[in-house]
Amino acid sequence: MNETLTVRICTGTACYVQGGSFLLDIENRLSSEEHTLVEIRGAGCLGACGESFLRPPFALVGETLMGNLTPEGLEEAIRSALARRTGV
Ligand code: FES
Repeated sequence: MNETLTVRICTGTACYVQGGSFLLDIENRLSSEEHTLVEIRGAGCLGACGESFLRPPFALVGETLMGNLTPEGLEEAIRSALARRTGV
């Protein structure tokens, strides 16, 4: 049995103005099988926007904080995380 991969997309102001709202489109990029393995949620500020070495928009993919994300980058990060879980 696979545990669900939780993805939290920051919808805080700093991320929103840097394109974070487009990350929510990830729902439309995943296959129906991937949808059964991934739970996607919007989240208030993840507290990362004050970090100088990463830039918004941010998301947590499982336990991994990712910054400077594009929809394509988030899609790739989710697929990589799923592949690591299944060992593929
Ligand atoms: S607004 Fe996104 S991490 Fe703070």
